[in-house]
Amino acid sequence: MSASAALRIQSPAAWPVREKERTAAEAASLAALLSIRGLTLEYRTPERVVRATHRVSIDVFRGDRFVLLGPSGCGKSTLLKAVAGFIEPTEGAIHLEGRPARGPGPDRVVVFQEFDQLPPWKTVTENVVFPLLASRTLKRREAEERAAHYIDKVGLSQFAKVYPHELSGGMKQRVAIARALAMQPRILLMDEPFAALDALTRRKMQEELLALWEDVGFTLLFVTHSIEEALLVGNRIALLSPHPGRIRAEINSHAWDLGSLGCAGFQTASARIHALLFEQEHTGTVQ
Ligand SMILES: Nc1ncnc2c1ncn2[C@@H]1O[C@H](COP(=O)(O)OP(=O)(O)O)[C@@H](O)[C@H]1O
Ligand SMILES: [Mg+2]
Repeated sequence: MSASAALRIQSPAAWPVREKERTAAEAASLAALLSIRGLTLEYRTPERVVRATHRVSIDVFRGDRFVLLGPSGCGKSTLLKAVAGFIEPTEGAIHLEGRPARGPGPDRVVVFQEFDQLPPWKTVTENVVFPLLASRTLKRREAEERAAHYIDKVGLSQFAKVYPHELSGGMKQRVAIARALAMQPRILLMDEPFAALDALTRRKMQEELLALWEDVGFTLLFVTHSIEEALLVGNRIALLSPHPGRIRAEINSHAWDLGSLGCAGFQTASARIHALLFEQEHTGTVQ
């Protein structure tokens, strides 16, 4: 059937509404820094196709601390890798500042969970300098100056000449954050960056991340499976259903910070999210 034939059989009343919806969606994605539309991501192995996310749409605005929250295996890392340009969408599109985001680029930098993301043969400074030189963002002298600036921001100036094996897990993550921020990306992507840390260090790192956000002012897309961490770190949360990940709900969480821990409203929000996740465990699609 031709497109015009398809149009003709639509009820006349339906068309203006659809047009209005489309325009609203387009306006939102134009204003968004990062716009993800109908994103389906799959892994193809010789035996089968694993669908990691199903038609996910989100808009991240400048200055957002946007959290992707969902159970293990729901496709959070896959989604982040697609934004980083490491995975091609099966369906849908990713736009950054209105332009298609295809392939990796210095405008999207990822901080991972693993402590071994820093080459061990490079000092802290060399680790931060390297991507600036490799991407031809800066010449050596400017790169070293910028590295020193961000190493200071994460409180590691005294450790600038030290190798990663001499650092604690928390310190290694601070280096990874400094390295990412030094690139001054349009959006900072973090995949469970504090999940491998002990509880006290994790809390400290959450606090420091929020202080850095206040100080430096960046846009963050942050992945976690911890409800508490999502509420603390995020101003907006997208809740993903279990495998394959779909957007279950979007929640405003700007009201919560470290001072809210233990307060009644925080507990209620946490319980509500828990219920949404739990409910989905029984009703969600299992592949
Ligand atoms: N390289 C891969 N090949 C095949 N399947 C994968 C691969 N990586 C992840 N998956 C599958 O994709 C789904 C989503 O994984 P992932 O994005 O890592 O989830 P999350 O980060 O939310 O725990 C899971 O079912 C996982 O087993
Ligand atoms: Mg993951």
